[in-house]
Amino acid sequence: MSLTKRIFAVAATGAVALSLAACAGTTAPANDGAAASADCNVGISMPTRSLERWINDGEQLQKLLKDAGCTADLQYADNKTDLQISQIQNQVAGGAKILVVAAVDGEVLAPVLAEAAGQDAKVIAYDRLINGTENVDYYATFDNYKVGTLQGQYIEEQLGLADGAGPFNLEPFAGSPDDNNAKFFFSGAWDVLLPYVESGQLVVPSGKSPSSNDDWASIGIQGWVSSAAQAEMDNRLSSFYSGSEVVDVVLSPNDSLAIGIIASLKSAGYTPGESYPLISGQDADKANVLAILDGEQSMTVWKDTRTLGKQVFDMIQQITAGEDATVNDTETYDNGKKVVPSFLLDPEVVVKDDVQSKLVDSGFIKASDVGL
Ligand code: GAL
Repeated sequence: MSLTKRIFAVAATGAVALSLAACAGTTAPANDGAAASADCNVGISMPTRSLERWINDGEQLQKLLKDAGCTADLQYADNKTDLQISQIQNQVAGGAKILVVAAVDGEVLAPVLAEAAGQDAKVIAYDRLINGTENVDYYATFDNYKVGTLQGQYIEEQLGLADGAGPFNLEPFAGSPDDNNAKFFFSGAWDVLLPYVESGQLVVPSGKSPSSNDDWASIGIQGWVSSAAQAEMDNRLSSFYSGSEVVDVVLSPNDSLAIGIIASLKSAGYTPGESYPLISGQDADKANVLAILDGEQSMTVWKDTRTLGKQVFDMIQQITAGEDATVNDTETYDNGKKVVPSFLLDPEVVVKDDVQSKLVDSGFIKASDVGL
C-alpha cells in the first residue's frame, strides 16, 4: 500500500475511533448521525393501518427519529395481538433499545416486554396503557378521561340539559373492550351524562345504558370497527325506533365508530338539518371532518398526534442521554403492577367553525382534503 494511502488509512481509522469515542462518551444524541444511532435504536409498534391516525402517528415519529440519526423500525400489527408480539420480539432481536408500543390489547404484552427488559430495552407505552407488567417505563398519551368529558359536556351544552331540557333519546357507544383508553373515554362522558339518564332527561330506548362506568364494555365495539358500529346502530334503529320515535343524540367515542353510525342513520332516512341527531367523535379523521362540514357529525375531539409524536421523541432523546424522561402525571395510570410515569397532552373540541382555524391553518389536514 503506497505511503499516501497508508497515511490516509491511519487518518480514517483515527476519525472513526474519534467518533466512536464520542458516541461511547455521551449518550445524548448529538444529531451527528453516528452518535445518536448507536444508542438510539427504536422499535415502533402501532396497532393497525386501518385507522387513519395510527398511520400518521407511526410515520411522524419514525421521521423525527430518522432525521435525528436514530434507527427506527416501524411495524403495524393489523389489530392482531400475536402479530404485534412477534413484531416486538423481532425488534428486540434486531437490537432495539427503546420500544414505543401502542398496544392492540394492553393485557397480553407482559411476557414479550419481560424479554425486552432482559435485553435492557426501555418501553414507552404510546397512547394506550400496557397493563400487568413492571416492564413499561413511561406512558405518553392524551388526557383520555378529558376526551370523554369534552364529549359529555358538548352534549350537555347543546341539549341544554343543565337547564332542565329533555327528554331526549340517547344512544351511547363505547370503544374496543381490549383498549385501556376506552374505559377512560366512556367514564369521562358518562360522569357528565349518567345523572341526566337518572333524572329522565336522557332516555336510552335501546336499553344499552350502563348503570356504572365499570359496565362500559357491555356496549363496546370490538376493534373500533366502523361496520360493526353500523350494524349495531341498524339493530337498535330497527328494534327500538318505530313510529315517530327518533334518535336525538349519539355518544360515539371516536370517529371510526361515528362513520358507521352516520351510515346507519342515513340508510334509516335521517338527513342533516332540524331533527338530525347530535353525534360526537374523536381523532379528526378526514372523512369525519368532511361529515362535520356537511352537518352529518356535530363535533370531534381533536388530539394533535404531532404533539404526541414530538413528546415521545423528546422522551427518547432524554432516555438515550441517560436521563429520566419528562412526565407530568405520576398518579392516574396504575397498570396493575405499578403507577406508570406518564405525560398527558391536552385534547380539544373541534366543531364546524373550528375546522379552518384549528385543523387546516395548523397544518393537521390540508384544505383540499376536506374540500375547503
Ligand atoms: C384509541 C385512541 C383513539 C382512537 C381509538 C381507535 O386508543 O386513543 O384515538 O383512535 O383508539 O384507534
